[in-house]
Amino acid sequence: MELLLAALFCTSIAGLSATKPTVNCSSTFPSTKLSPNYNETIAHAIHSMTVEGLKLFNSKATEINFVPTVNQDVFSYQPILEHAPRDGFGNDFHTRTMNVVDKILSTLGNSKDGLGPHWSAIERVAHIFHMQDLWERIKATEWPKVQQTPPSDEVCTCLSSVDFNGIKDAVGWVANHYKTGTPITLLNRPIPKLTDATAWSVWKNRLLHYYTPEAMRDAATYLYCVSKFW
Ligand SMILES: *[C@@H]1O[C@H](CO)[C@@H](O)[C@H](O)[C@H]1NC(C)=O
Ligand SMILES: *[C@@H]1O[C@H](CO)[C@@H](O)[C@H](O)[C@H]1NC(C)=O
Repeated sequence: MELLLAALFCTSIAGLSATKPTVNCSSTFPSTKLSPNYNETIAHAIHSMTVEGLKLFNSKATEINFVPTVNQDVFSYQPILEHAPRDGFGNDFHTRTMNVVDKILSTLGNSKDGLGPHWSAIERVAHIFHMQDLWERIKATEWPKVQQTPPSDEVCTCLSSVDFNGIKDAVGWVANHYKTGTPITLLNRPIPKLTDATAWSVWKNRLLHYYTPEAMRDAATYLYCVSKFW
């Protein structure tokens, strides 16, 4: 599928070339109204995506889903996975929430939960529930609009070609920065450790950065396009 997309893309837009062509879906298809920084809004929404998260949008999602994510083992030789993995939440406890907390605390210290070694337990909890919260918000607000007015096949080819449109590079940016810190946005701003209410007010503001209608529409449009391949 990737080869097909890449081939389609090279021929139709960038011309056949040995070097990696960069395309900009927002300037190539301005009528789609993607944000100029769609690479960052989309990479933020998907960097820790899971099969279960994708099923929120389309129940046909499987482990072959073409959604690039940060490798759970951020120091792996392969920092980006081609496909979002399963979430691996267990069922020892009764509610899903407690099983998520169990998963987070059970992998504390081995830095193989997709966030690297720098996140405290409470920062990990905030991150995982923030991402699920964002996915649910996208599903509730922008997803129905994208279903109603879907992007064209050409736009979908552009958005799905993550090797060429900057999205995979931006997921790589996240993977890279998890090695040294706890980035919340892709804006490269310093963030305090989450130890008190003052720090939380900074975190909260930062976590809400990509909840704008524009950022959520970018993510919904991308998810609509990639889900056509499931
Ligand atoms: C796309 O092009 C616009 C307008 O030139 C620019 O502002 C934006 O940064 C570019 N975005 C990407 C992802 O390359
Ligand atoms: C997103 O695209 C813009 C425009 O090409 C670029 O300046 C920026 O560095 C990209 N962001 C990431 C995190 O790759």
